[in-house]
Amino acid sequence: MKLLRFILAVSLPLMARGQVVFTRDIAPLIHSRCAGCHHDGGDAPFPLLTAADAQKRVRQIVEVTAAGDMPPWLPMGTDGQFANERRLSAAEKELLRQWLADGAPEGDPSLLPPMPEFSHEWQCGAPDLIVEMPTPFLIPADGPAIYRNFVIPLPHGAPQYVTAVEVRPSSRAVHHAFVRAEKASATMVADAADAAPGYAGMASFGPGALPAADAFALPSVQREAYRRLLPEGRKSPPEMLPGTAGALGAWVPGFKVPPLPADTAHRLPEGSHLVLSLRMVPIGKPQHERTRIGLHFARQPPAREIIPVPLNTFRIVLPAGSRAEEARAKFVTPVPLSVLSLWPHAHQLATMLEVIAHVPGAEPRRILDIREWDFDQQQPYTFREPQQFPAGTRFELCVRYNNSSTNPANPTVPARTVRFGESLRDEMALVILQTTLPNPTDRPSLNLALAASRDRMFSGLLTGLLEGPPSPPP
Ligand code: HEC
Repeated sequence: MKLLRFILAVSLPLMARGQVVFTRDIAPLIHSRCAGCHHDGGDAPFPLLTAADAQKRVRQIVEVTAAGDMPPWLPMGTDGQFANERRLSAAEKELLRQWLADGAPEGDPSLLPPMPEFSHEWQCGAPDLIVEMPTPFLIPADGPAIYRNFVIPLPHGAPQYVTAVEVRPSSRAVHHAFVRAEKASATMVADAADAAPGYAGMASFGPGALPAADAFALPSVQREAYRRLLPEGRKSPPEMLPGTAGALGAWVPGFKVPPLPADTAHRLPEGSHLVLSLRMVPIGKPQHERTRIGLHFARQPPAREIIPVPLNTFRIVLPAGSRAEEARAKFVTPVPLSVLSLWPHAHQLATMLEVIAHVPGAEPRRILDIREWDFDQQQPYTFREPQQFPAGTRFELCVRYNNSSTNPANPTVPARTVRFGESLRDEMALVILQTTLPNPTDRPSLNLALAASRDRMFSGLLTGLLEGPPSPPP
């Protein structure tokens, strides 16, 4: 066995530096790529800082890094297009594997780099305003995962322009969190109607605005839902997806708040409140969750406002047992757009999610490429530098689903036909592009195109859901 290891080591370029040791080779990697979450008080369940920490789990470390499960990061590609990208390179994975093959030696202690330090202060400095869940929510010791929304009022006269939002859950039972700004009162009514703090589900239209997905199969129900969402004489609601359109902040373990470009901010519509959505998974001891949210405001109206551009479809029909059904959505921008970040969202049957930008006269460019969707790890992805797209660019979203029992994440086994819906038993296909306009006078043209896109999507409510699988893209 020793001989085999020796031969392996000889055959590798690493041989040049001899045996792979913790202090010189592994510590710099683990300190920079793992310890940010894996330290005492960090977001991961155990520390990975010292040789002993890493030796204890070396097999598991090699397994999870080889499989791409750690560090957690869904998009493919290692070209660093996204801020805070975490995917390990092939060489880094190989280094860990070789350390195991060499017997995971510690090495010369004098080569150990200084221990990294971790701050648990607010990431963007002291927030201008800190708000929190009005009352704690009791997460039981065990039981199924809980998805719940909490209305968090903002003080009267709070400033309108937000430059950063940091979400800080109080317990380890929280797996991911989203914050949006909203004016609709439906969420407040729902929160009040339910005795416990918050309300259940994922209702971004306001609970009850859409019927349960099963009922969607009936045209009369579809028509009624459509009618209820629309004011007189309109083809689509004035504020399509009021929830998601106001996407402000997120949290997953280790999440770093991406800074906005200079002189850019989200505008909070006057009189809005925050809605915090939490996915919570019991951890064996009851927890009183009370998430805090820190907001930073612009001192004056910024030059550029964030404009959310949703790629979204209601045409999702996934027959029971189907393994590769797809849903597609697109948006063609009539004006140049600067794309800051991508916020993907789907539920537990999704397996693949991608966004392709078709720039006129250029090769299609895959700007988001997730080959193994994981509901728990969803988070926004922010480009290091905002990406510029000319007028006429077509953004296409494609989500693939596995609605069979071969999908371990399938919440309903045996499988049933699944349609669009906001319950976790239903599915969604949504990516919000957070954009700004290089040329602010283009706003009316963009607004018109967004309204037309909403109208098309809503007419899908009437026509799309009965036709079987979604039609191929035009
Ligand atoms: C962004 C935060 C984050 C980073 C960075 C990170 N981890 Fe983790 N890690 C976690 C969390 C959270 C868990 C617990 C996972 C769970 O409970 O599902 C975990 C679990 C693990 C586990 C246990 C896996 C299991 O199946 O129980 C191993 C091993 C691990 N991490 C290794 C690493 C290594 C090695 C690195 C660096 C190369 C790394 N992690 C980087 C957050 C992180």
